[in-house]
Amino acid sequence: MSNAECVRCHQRIGAEWSGSLHQRAWDDPTFLAAYAVEPMAFCRNCHAPEAADTEDERRHEGVSCVTCHVLARDVVGARDVVGARDEGGGEHPVLVEPAMATSAWCASCHEFDFPRPQAAKMQSTMSEHRRSAHRARSCQECHMPEVEGADGTHRSHDFRVQGDEALMASALSVTASSVDTRRVEVTLRVAEVGHAVPTGDLYRRLVVRAVDAGGQAARPVVLGRRFSRVHHPDGDERRQVGDDRVPADGRPRRAELFFLQPFVLPVRWEVVYQRMGPREAAVFGVDMSTDETVMSRGRIEDTK
Ligand code: HEC
Ligand code: HEC
Ligand code: HEC
Ligand code: HEC
Ligand code: HEC
Repeated sequence: MSNAECVRCHQRIGAEWSGSLHQRAWDDPTFLAAYAVEPMAFCRNCHAPEAADTEDERRHEGVSCVTCHVLARDVVGARDVVGARDEGGGEHPVLVEPAMATSAWCASCHEFDFPRPQAAKMQSTMSEHRRSAHRARSCQECHMPEVEGADGTHRSHDFRVQGDEALMASALSVTASSVDTRRVEVTLRVAEVGHAVPTGDLYRRLVVRAVDAGGQAARPVVLGRRFSRVHHPDGDERRQVGDDRVPADGRPRRAELFFLQPFVLPVRWEVVYQRMGPREAAVFGVDMSTDETVMSRGRIEDTK
């Protein structure tokens, strides 16, 4: 069965999936810009898993219904719908695989090594999840919530994170206070999230910024994974040399912001999510001024 056939019958789920980052995993302009720099067959395993090569039209299906639901020739589902099929005339048998409702179903793409393996992984969402206070909750519980449709509820398939400001805001619990008249300390902890923040792609980062009542800005602090370029005979490679994201296990991450002049109260602070830093944005053609999300913000009204 082709993907177009699944979408034709499963219209609501098809509509959620169309335009999702799973559907656009190949067509995503940021992916295409990065792929132009590093055109490796390895990338296509996850960004165009149904396509045999870079000409195959199925690359535009990205991570499709078929990718997640068809094993050999069987349609796989998490639950037994034999009853529903017998009554309503479902058109195909469903092989019930309870593992589909568990995080393991996401593992093959959401955790992987660099093309040349090193101690750090290129993405490590699964192992972050194992260290999380929310490890008993599956990826699906947060990323495929039950939503209402015309004929009952179903698990949402839009997998949306970027653009969902409420979901992003739920990830962090942040407090801030003054240390002295020039320094402000911002403390970040994970809240309703099952992995480090940010997780996923290696360039994801948080920027902690503050500005005083007189418009004086503190030097921003960037939290993310840090890499250095290491020479390798087959081409230079990125080697991870630091990771100061907000840890999955609930430990605090502190950012200290410095003002050059004593600040004027109140000081306004914010924690902003960016997909990448300015260097990658320039290479990938991303306009950083419109491509960020405020995850948390507040004011410091008094000094200690
Ligand atoms: C990234 C993987 C992934 C993709 C892509 C995907 N699904 Fe799913 N789908 C799942 C998982 C996982 C579940 C089970 C969730 C649960 O029950 O915990 C599911 C559940 C379902 C269900 C049962 C929903 C319910 O709650 O009643 C249907 C039907 C379904 N998918 C159809 C589709 C169709 C059609 C497409 C393509 C338009 C699609 N899926 C794309 C992973 C995926
Ligand atoms: C001719 C229409 C038709 C086509 C084509 C079709 N389905 Fe279905 N499918 C149904 C019906 C009807 C059911 C019964 C349950 C329901 O109404 O969702 C069903 C059930 C399912 C279930 C189980 C739902 C559950 O609650 O666990 C999954 C998963 C599923 N389909 C996925 C797919 C995928 C993936 C494709 C493409 C490979 C596909 N279907 C193609 C009509 C279709
Ligand atoms: C076949 C590989 C594959 C599988 C399986 C897969 N994903 Fe993904 N997922 C991707 C790719 C590739 C992207 C990013 C596409 C892009 O941004 O270019 C992505 C993006 C996402 C995003 C980010 C959306 C956003 O707005 O930033 C979430 C959340 C996500 N996946 C959750 C899941 C969950 C939960 C499962 C298991 C039910 C799963 N994925 C299974 C490949 C996969
Ligand atoms: C307790 C809820 C929860 C669980 C469990 C959870 N997540 Fe998330 N996830 C979130 C929230 C909230 C965000 C938004 C904040 C962020 O980007 O970290 C997010 C963000 C993401 C992103 C987007 C990264 C980006 O910056 O584009 C991906 C991909 C993702 N999750 C995958 C997964 C996978 C895979 C699992 C299972 C191993 C999982 N999540 C488990 C809540 C959860
Ligand atoms: C094992 C699966 C896998 C492989 C292999 C893979 N990716 Fe990804 N990629 C993902 C997932 C999952 C995400 C989404 C994580 C997130 O949203 O932070 C992603 C996200 C991205 C993004 C971020 C897109 C955005 O909109 O910000 C870029 C760029 C990217 N990948 C490029 C590549 C390139 C280039 C290669 C090959 C060198 C590659 N990927 C190989 C799974 C993979």
